[in-house]
Amino acid sequence: MTPREVVSHPPPLRESVPHHIAIVMDGNGRWARRRAQPRSLGHRAGQKAVRAIVEYCLRNRIPVLTLFAFSSENWKRPDAEVGALMDLFLKALDKEIDELHKNEVRVCFIGELSAFPDPIRTRMQVATTRTAGNQRLALNVCVNYGGRWDIATAARLAAEAALRGELDAAMLDERTLARYFCLADLPPPDLLIRTGGEHRISNFLLWQLAYAELYFTDTLWPDMDAAQFDLALDDYARRERRFGCVPAAPAAARAG
Ligand code: FPP
Repeated sequence: MTPREVVSHPPPLRESVPHHIAIVMDGNGRWARRRAQPRSLGHRAGQKAVRAIVEYCLRNRIPVLTLFAFSSENWKRPDAEVGALMDLFLKALDKEIDELHKNEVRVCFIGELSAFPDPIRTRMQVATTRTAGNQRLALNVCVNYGGRWDIATAARLAAEAALRGELDAAMLDERTLARYFCLADLPPPDLLIRTGGEHRISNFLLWQLAYAELYFTDTLWPDMDAAQFDLALDDYARRERRFGCVPAAPAAARAG
């Protein structure tokens, strides 16, 4: 998860680079199975790919990265796998934060954090506080997160504000509700990458992804590297983002 060494060379010449990339990191289990290894080994290999994407964002001046590391449904996995993931998070929090801080990465954990064991929660809090002033890359790690949970929480917070008289319920619109969602202080994702061959969103950032470009690749998460991320960004650069409008008319057509 840490950018060990940030090699500085000019970013690729793309006309359009996403400001915010969100990723569903899928395929760790299959990566391990193909090597006849336990799934936990796949997650460990996945951690290296997390380092690679953090380095990639720093190098390419992409200011926001949001990773789906543990969904609210992942608790249903076998105890041994959940335990291995918790262990991995704990070790990553101990090992990687110095380097992330050195690289001016602001780390945030998004989700229902109360479900995590105390040592993990404490470290998340320490990491968040320590890196809070960093400006180069905002790294959001979604853990025990679900898009429906996020929507329900936003609705509850808005209802509570209305009950306190801080909000007129009759005036509640998209803009106002948006303030109560996770990541409300950041631009929404421009690009969602999902690795591992599945073509679905899996309850990730349901509200925030409304206008994101979707990129699916069969590559398993631990095999993602800079060349693979280049493919995703090249694909993104070719997209025409219209946000519900019609395409921009060429100058001659506009003049006529
Ligand atoms: C999905 O692959 C991956 C996860 C549930 C865990 C993601 C965790 C990491 C990448 C580890 C490191 C992360 C941090 C932030 C330290 P899967 O297990 O569903 O794979 P499969 O679809 O092949 O079974």
